[in-house]
Amino acid sequence: MPGMENALKSLLENNARWSADVTQRDAEFFSRLVRQQRPEYLWIGCSDARVPANDIVGLLPGELFVHRNVANVVTHSDVNCQSVLQYAVDVLKVKHVIVVGHYGCGGVQLALEGPRSGGVADFWLGHVRDVIGRHRDLIAQIPDTRARLDLVVELNSLEQALNVCHSATLQAAWERGQKLSVHAWAYDLKDGRVRTLGVSVRQPDDLKGLRDRVLSRVSAEHPSISAP
Ligand code: CO
Repeated sequence: MPGMENALKSLLENNARWSADVTQRDAEFFSRLVRQQRPEYLWIGCSDARVPANDIVGLLPGELFVHRNVANVVTHSDVNCQSVLQYAVDVLKVKHVIVVGHYGCGGVQLALEGPRSGGVADFWLGHVRDVIGRHRDLIAQIPDTRARLDLVVELNSLEQALNVCHSATLQAAWERGQKLSVHAWAYDLKDGRVRTLGVSVRQPDDLKGLRDRVLSRVSAEHPSISAP
């Protein structure tokens, strides 16, 4: 398929230029990376092309371990995500796990507003629908469609970060005294800025009352929500 080759030609040219530029700035860059990666952070984000993990937080190759899927979902039965988590924590010894949702997330919007795809994506987004179901009363208080989606994006980041906290990997790491914290963020496509959601769990005790604290904070920021 010659058309295909043309379409990818610019990518290969970009790659050659990038490699040359990096090497020119730092001759040892790639040889250092080949020897080891020592990321301090695991990023669990959405696959959305507008949310490039390394760029957003200004980190170089080797500095950020990344897992992305539709709507940044973390489930206990997803061997892919759980393997990344285990490797990051047990082998790479990252110090922070950050779950990053983003406003305007198409996956979250589909889970919230439909329609169902009739395919395997429905199963996947079922995890986001679980989040919506858990917070149904809160979500129902927001009449504005956009604001409602924003809220669900935040709630989804919160709940997926809690799933990280409750994973076997994190529980075992904390039990053996490993220094490790879990965070929930929401990224704004409109201005490229990250909002932290008041989730910063350094030990199992931090989980006590955390969901309620975050919910009060999130509710206070949404004018249509009456005090819980
Ligand atoms: Co998304």
